[in-house]
Amino acid sequence: MISNSKFAVLFLLLVTTVSYSDAQKNKTVQGGMTAYINNLMAKMTLEEKIGQLNLLTPGGGVATGAVVSKDVEAKIRAGSVGGLFGVTGVEKIRQAQQLAVTGSRLKIPLLFGSDVIHGYKTTFPIPLGLSCSWDTLLIEESARIAAAEATADGLNWAFSPMVDIARDPRWGRVAEGSGEDPYLGSRIAASMVRGYQGNFSSSNLMACVKHFALYGAAEGGRDYNTTDMSRVKMYEYYLPPYKAAVDAGVGSVMTSFNEIDGIPASGNPWLLTDLLRKQWGFKGFVVTDYTSINEMTDHGSGDLQTVSAMALRAGVDMDMVGEGFLTTLKQSLKAGLVTQQQIDNACRRVLEAKYKLGLFDDPFRFCNAERAAAEVLSAEKKVAARNYGVRSAVLLKNANQVLPLKKSGTIALIGPLANNQSNMPGTWSVSGDAKLAIPVLQGMKEIAGNNVNIIYSKGANITDDSLLARKANVFGEKVDRDPLSPDQLIAQAVATANKADVIVAVLGEASEMSGESASRSDISLPASQQKLLTALSATGKPLVLVLMSGRPLTIEKENRLTDALLHVWFQGQEAGHSIADLLFGNYNPSGKLTMSFPRNVGQIPVYYNYKNTGRPQQDLNAEAQKFRSNYLDVSNEPLFPFGYGLSYTNFNYSEISLDKTSMKPAESIKASVSVSNTGKYDGEEVVQLYIRDVYASVTQPVKKLKAFRKVTLKAGETKTVTFDISINDLKFTGSDLRQIYEPGAFRVFIGGNSKDVKEAGFILTK
Ligand code: BGC
Repeated sequence: MISNSKFAVLFLLLVTTVSYSDAQKNKTVQGGMTAYINNLMAKMTLEEKIGQLNLLTPGGGVATGAVVSKDVEAKIRAGSVGGLFGVTGVEKIRQAQQLAVTGSRLKIPLLFGSDVIHGYKTTFPIPLGLSCSWDTLLIEESARIAAAEATADGLNWAFSPMVDIARDPRWGRVAEGSGEDPYLGSRIAASMVRGYQGNFSSSNLMACVKHFALYGAAEGGRDYNTTDMSRVKMYEYYLPPYKAAVDAGVGSVMTSFNEIDGIPASGNPWLLTDLLRKQWGFKGFVVTDYTSINEMTDHGSGDLQTVSAMALRAGVDMDMVGEGFLTTLKQSLKAGLVTQQQIDNACRRVLEAKYKLGLFDDPFRFCNAERAAAEVLSAEKKVAARNYGVRSAVLLKNANQVLPLKKSGTIALIGPLANNQSNMPGTWSVSGDAKLAIPVLQGMKEIAGNNVNIIYSKGANITDDSLLARKANVFGEKVDRDPLSPDQLIAQAVATANKADVIVAVLGEASEMSGESASRSDISLPASQQKLLTALSATGKPLVLVLMSGRPLTIEKENRLTDALLHVWFQGQEAGHSIADLLFGNYNPSGKLTMSFPRNVGQIPVYYNYKNTGRPQQDLNAEAQKFRSNYLDVSNEPLFPFGYGLSYTNFNYSEISLDKTSMKPAESIKASVSVSNTGKYDGEEVVQLYIRDVYASVTQPVKKLKAFRKVTLKAGETKTVTFDISINDLKFTGSDLRQIYEPGAFRVFIGGNSKDVKEAGFILTK
């Protein structure tokens, strides 16, 4: 592996002082993109065309596959590299770009990609957290700000948004997505693409929607595992967010590791050509995931030459790290396994991306040291991170209004995540520096004021399981082992708690217990922390649990033991400030879950848009009924449903009023509710509208989210929220995979979550 710094030194030695001349700038002006690329491609050898399809990483980032690339400099000079990732910073990127545009025969600039997943150097809440804001403008802004920071640092391509729908919280990568719902997921996908790409100014990145497709449906929640589902299920529940990204103009698509209908995504012509290009009209380029062409050999599809040819034929344009294209496509062309046209098409798409990014006009467009100094880790970005943090948290319980905390008295702040920095950025924050993160203890002290005494005790290790700790520590120490024994830690914490008026326990997963290759079969709080919480609860003091995790956890016991439960995910750099803002009521929580919280692992998958079955349970809260679809030992209902989240105030919903009770396909119906803030605090509420098609040729789920609106209500205020229901909201995927509607009865539900709703009905006529 070549480290980033070594890579930079090599560049310094290799790069000549020849600079990219002004004559070469602005050369794309005449003739437009197609003419420019025709002209360029006419000069390219076969090897140079194949070279554009090669994406390498010299190391220095997070290598998620078995290999990192070798001889990168020589390959750039030879014109065998189309782009790099894992190289960051204006200087290093400038050096690499300089090598490409002065050292290679045709001087074609490189793409510079990175996993800009939730913020860049300034880390924001993990995507699952941000999705709980249900605020698509805010999410768009977060992508725009991340793009501004990353481009200031030299990058031009983000491997984001990750839009894989997931119903299985055992899968660690739920942390990177927007949860279980295709409608919300689609809205967020489009917002992120808009935020990253804007109008392709020098503060915008090219986005890359991933992982196409169905990666979130890995069997058993085990990462990289097989997926298999009907086309109707794909079209209805899993594909919409990718399509929304394409419709929003996403510049690139990343294939997934899994197979679809028995063919790995990276070699699947139905997926990459018929669906993506022909049906959806995608015009950008397709890149594989890390070595996913090579991995097709392990899937059982063939040797490297076979699978590389398969990938190109299927519609892949760029090969991430594996060099299957680089090393085999020439022979495959001779052998007739691929055509010159297929190589040309792929090369053209990669060059078009570079053209759209303005790299032919100015390859150093994104290399501006002054901008980097002004933008990277700027004060404005910290403010944004704190704002996103408060809006991603979800208040799951608040008995006796124990929250917000009073700014007086003594607070015992306890737990392995209470005074911790290393876990705050969350998974997939490859460019973030955990040392900049604000621990909760610091944030609380800054915000509490002089009348509060905050006393701290660690109370437990994140886990005492040394094997789990080792696995969570692959990217640096997230789980440390305290010199005190677990019993001593608990005794100390209980002594601290006994001196306080209220306990705030900050518990949860280590950040790398979710994310890539971080599946768990048991998604409970680690045993060490459960024991601590039980001991804290036994003190009888009011107990607030601040929970951090990258996935829904099974927390029935924790829910019973505590008075208040605030789920904060991983908040990023400003964690301590945003969590303190929430606890002290500087911000009134407004987040709503985007994934259901199961009661136990056996309920998984548990999701709100389930099918009724032929033997539905008649009363969802009743005990198990014989010969009904249910369990003997647990209810069908999740602990906390999709869309759920409390506020420090209360919201009251009126019955639904419809402006008519039947509509024709060309008409629409207005559904209104009055929402009143009946509590003491101003607050925000996400008003959600769900629809059920009662009878249909393809059975429909009990509810589908079709609209939502986030409203701000002052204490005592009432607002009427009106939704227009049109024919598009009544469509579903028919057996022929078209979007169709069928006349008949529909139910409408409006409420503050997917379960507690008001209900009305109407008829769709012909
Ligand atoms: C992940 C992608 C990521 C890529 C590059 C892969 O292992 O699945 O999400 O973009 O690595 O870092």
